[in-house]
Amino acid sequence: MENLEALKERAARAAVEYVKDGYVVGLGTGSTARYVVLALGGRVKAGLKIRGVPTSRETAELAAQQGIPLIDQDNAWVIDVAIDGADQADPGLNLIKGGGGALLKEKIVAASAKQFIVMVDHTKRVPVLGGSFPLPIEVIPFGWGSTAREIEALTKSRVVLRERNGVPFRTESGNLIVDVHIDRIDQPRDLEISLNTIPGIVETGLFVNRTDVLIVGTPQGVETQHASRT
Ligand code: A5P
Repeated sequence: MENLEALKERAARAAVEYVKDGYVVGLGTGSTARYVVLALGGRVKAGLKIRGVPTSRETAELAAQQGIPLIDQDNAWVIDVAIDGADQADPGLNLIKGGGGALLKEKIVAASAKQFIVMVDHTKRVPVLGGSFPLPIEVIPFGWGSTAREIEALTKSRVVLRERNGVPFRTESGNLIVDVHIDRIDQPRDLEISLNTIPGIVETGLFVNRTDVLIVGTPQGVETQHASRT
């Protein structure tokens, strides 16, 4: 079996082809998005003029090292293309994201981009979301236990507070993440809408109807799937 890192890198190289001179580029977070930042850094050194909007401190640091100018986070931006990884993608290009805990900024950036390009290796393409990967949800620390109970009641699934090094994981916005172990998410849009009615939820890792292009790194090469929505 081919090295998954090589497949991610190949998908990332295909994704940066969508970036043109003068673009404002949403820069995702995670190991696949890292290859995008590195590839863009190479193009910037060769003369490409872009500005980046990073979705995490980690990405901001790498982009700065690569000489990619970043837009002041306090300014309103118009993003030409956002490029990011995902934890799962279904045949309708709906996603689970947030394995790295950056889902809130990632969703804000994806929502404000004219085009949202997602890269995965082939193992992340699934017939139905859920199962092998839990759904991350960012919640406010205040009353998080009650919020988790509500999520459990709605989804009828186990909800686990994410920890790192034995303490609750904090997002860059100071919130917590709960991971919801749902067997299958047959109706991602309905689930997203229902979850958003629970007080205390800041954002979910469900990205429904947001992907414009899915680039999949496979052992046979790169496959590209475009959203069929009108
Ligand atoms: C970060 O919070 C996530 O949404 C990542 O985009 C996702 O987990 C994919 O990460 P990898 O590219 O590292 O698998």
